Amino acid sequence: MSNPIIIGNWKMNGLINETKHIVSTLLTYTKKHQNFAKTILCPPFTQLQLVKEMIKNSPLGLGAQDCHYANKGAHTGDISPAILQDIGVNYVILGHSERRKDHHESNQLVLKKTVAAQNNGLLPIVCIGETQQERNANNQESIVEVQLKGSLPEQFDGLVAYEPIWAIGTGLTANNEQITEMIQFIRKKLVAQYGENGKKISILYGGSVKPDNVKDIYAIPELSGVLVGGVSIIPKDFIKLIDIAQEFIRS
Ligand code: 13P
Repeated sequence: MSNPIIIGNWKMNGLINETKHIVSTLLTYTKKHQNFAKTILCPPFTQLQLVKEMIKNSPLGLGAQDCHYANKGAHTGDISPAILQDIGVNYVILGHSERRKDHHESNQLVLKKTVAAQNNGLLPIVCIGETQQERNANNQESIVEVQLKGSLPEQFDGLVAYEPIWAIGTGLTANNEQITEMIQFIRKKLVAQYGENGKKISILYGGSVKPDNVKDIYAIPELSGVLVGGVSIIPKDFIKLIDIAQEFIRS
């Protein structure tokens, strides 16, 4: 790939001290380097404001890990896209497999959230991917096709993240052949759905991305970047992902 995008999904991690440590370590790196991969941090909701302040005047971007589909109202415990937009968030991860599982999020709900995010000027990062069982049964394409059809709106202005569930947090990374096959399949479906625009949608890979496998992943031409969980809260390793991306940057 060229010009990789690196998105750190902190998940439910990041106490105030940890947040300050992660972000300040990254800022030290960004100050020393002029031209590096686009890097976006997605801390938990409560740390968005702190991270926003810290990354001010830096090239780092900010994303959230979810949002509601309504802009405001009686939804105890939820955060709306309007609230995210108000504090200066630019991206939002939607339909992550952990939310699909833990909160029973359906494609239909992810679709509503995606539309709401776009309407508030946020770039949705819509996650799709199959379970181990589904892959064992060779059903990965049909699963991903249903997720794409069900979760993406008629007009889509965002990114797609292919995250095979069996590779998330397990240390098992999909191999390059598996990733390439699925990225090509997703691209075909996006082009069928959006025509020329479907060619421009960025497709990311996520699932046990680490410093020792990321170079091979960056080398996949059809990919636009990586969505990183565990390593995103280990600043020295996350910086390695950014560093290794250097050689894939084209001006
Ligand atoms: P890991 O990198 O920890 O496998 O998590 C991937 C992920 O779920 C990113 O959204």
